[in-house]
Order: sequence, then structure tokens, then C-alpha cells
Amino acid sequence: MASPAPPLATLGILSIGDMGVGIARLLIAHNYRVITNASDRSQATQDRARKNSVDLVPTDIELCNTADYILSIVPPRDALAIAQRIATAFSNPDFDKTRRHPLYYLDLNAISPRLAREINDLFANSSPDVRLIDGGVIGPPPKLKEDATWYKPSVPVSGPHKLSDAQSSGKHLVEVLNMQHINDTIGSATGLKMCFAALSKGFTALAIQSLTTAHNLGCLPELQEHLKVFNPGAAKSVETVTRMSPKAYRWVREMEEIAETFEADGGFEREESIFRPVAKVYDFVAYGTELGQEKTEDRKRGKTSEDVAVLMSEGTARRKEKTE
Ligand SMILES: *[C@@H]1O[C@H](CO)[C@@H](O)[C@H](O)[C@H]1NC(C)=O
Ligand SMILES: *[C@@H]1O[C@H](CO)[C@@H](O)[C@H](O)[C@H]1NC(C)=O
Repeated sequence: MASPAPPLATLGILSIGDMGVGIARLLIAHNYRVITNASDRSQATQDRARKNSVDLVPTDIELCNTADYILSIVPPRDALAIAQRIATAFSNPDFDKTRRHPLYYLDLNAISPRLAREINDLFANSSPDVRLIDGGVIGPPPKLKEDATWYKPSVPVSGPHKLSDAQSSGKHLVEVLNMQHINDTIGSATGLKMCFAALSKGFTALAIQSLTTAHNLGCLPELQEHLKVFNPGAAKSVETVTRMSPKAYRWVREMEEIAETFEADGGFEREESIFRPVAKVYDFVAYGTELGQEKTEDRKRGKTSEDVAVLMSEGTARRKEKTE
């Protein structure tokens, strides 16, 4: 019996959430090996990794010793901590300094360019041999389509190092992951992700407030009719409110990262920084309304934009009662 071809390279993914699983599956389907360290994560997380053919390693040091590339794909609030973990493992005496290829660290998180620069400084000061690649993921997780081809999100990357120069199948990996190197500066790719996300998630927050208020005023059906005739693009886009609630808790920090981006890199003053309150809107969705408690696909309420307006309105009314 012919033995299977050896993997093209090994990638460590931290961590195996929805996006992590999608990217792991895409890589494994293209003959890469994917590993993760989930030793102190829940049984469900470990099972999910195994079920998707992701190999588990017990420590970060083994992860760094085995992987050619490490991909950080976590909620934005964990991005710095993950980089610190890897920098610590890399500086450990048990880290294999004789490895053949340099270790590439791809930060693919929804973070501000300022935080990306901080992560760059962290590696530059503690483990200068790690090659940091700044990146973002635009679009939903990769998925095998019915015609057996892959839908892939776009993965813009930036920084002084190019993945296409990496010896362990770097060129091929760039193609498989649909990556595009957009600039030699750390922060360009994360910045692109922030500017893109601002327009979609910012509009959704406007839609939440507009629909809720129209519901309270008894003019929601009329608002929707007028949108259809006079602003059909918006009529379509307001429907995004029906898909945001399972992700709202995660978007709170992402909106704060966008605010940070617009302030630090856009030059806008704190009082012009509209994404601070946008973060608060998603915080309220997640923790102040019934929408936030329904994180699964089988939720019963919040399926239409009218439902969302009703649930938001109930939430604001409850909050008002409490403060009166
Ligand atoms: C990964 O390994 C380290 C030991 O290097 C362990 O302390 C840590 O908790 C592990 N991380 C996770 C997320 O399991
Ligand atoms: C890269 O980004 C910098 C700003 O950080 C800009 O000045 C420069 O023109 C960009 N380079 C390219 C090739 O787009």
C-alpha cells in the first residue's frame, strides 16, 4: 500500500474557533498538517479539533518546535496574550534553536494597526528571529462548496517579510490561503480589515437603532417600504441585523479596535470617534437583551428584522424601568 504523501508543511493554529476550523480544514484538504495546543481548553474544543483532523500538542514549546508557521486567529481581546505566549515559548531554552527554517507568526486578528505594531515590538524585543506577518481575514470562514471547490475569504497581509519567500511551501500556501501582500509596513493589512469592518458592522449598528426607534414610533413597516423604493441598497443591508446577535459579544472589542484605528491612524479626535458608542450598542445587544442569550443557530426569536427591533425595544424598556 502506498503511504500518503508527507505534509507540505506544519501549521500551528491558535485557536480552533469557527474561523480556525474553517482554515484548518482548507489547509488539511491541501495536504498541510495542522496542530494546536488545546491542553487546558474544554473537552468540546479538544473534540472539535480531533474531529477535524487537527493534531493536539501538549505545550506551546512543542507547538513552536513542530510548526513552520503559527496562525493566531482569536477574539481581538486575546491577540496580545497569544503573541506573548508564543514569544515566551520561543525564548524558552527547550525551544529548538537548530530548526531548519525560521518560524513565521501570522497575526490574522481583527485588531488595530496600533496593537499590531505593539505585537511587532514584542517579538522584535524578545524573539527577533520570529518573522511576524500582519494580516486580516475578510469574509466568512473557508468552506467546501457543493461543486467540490473551496470558497475562501480574502487574507490581505503586510510587513517586511513575504510568505511567498518562506521555504516550507510558502508560495503554495499563499495561494491556498488566498493571501495578498499589500504593503511592507506592519499595520497596513490589519488597517484594511478595520476600515472594511467599520462599513459593514457600523452600518448594522445604525440599522439596529433605526429599526428599534421606528418600531417604538409605530412606523417600522413604512420605514421598510420607503427604503425599498428610495434606498434599495439600505433596504437590503438592514437585514444584516438578523445575523449579528450571536457575534455581538465578540464585536464589542472589535469596534473599540476600529475606534482606536480611526483615532491613531485616521487622525480623528476622541469626540469624533463614533465607534466607541458603536461598541456600546453591541455590548447592549449581547448583555442587555434576549438576543444576546441566543448564541446558537436554533434560536427562535430574532429571525427577522422586525423581531430584532422588538427584542431591542424590550431591552431598552427594561433598562429604563431599572433606572427609574
Ligand atoms: C499550551 O501549553 C502550555 C504549556 O506550554 C500550557 O501552560 C497552556 O495552558 C497551553 N495552552 C492552552 C490554550 O491549552
Ligand atoms: C505602504 O504604506 C505606506 C503608509 O504606511 C505608504 O506611504 C506607502 O505608499 C505604501 N506602499 C505601497 C507600495 O503601497
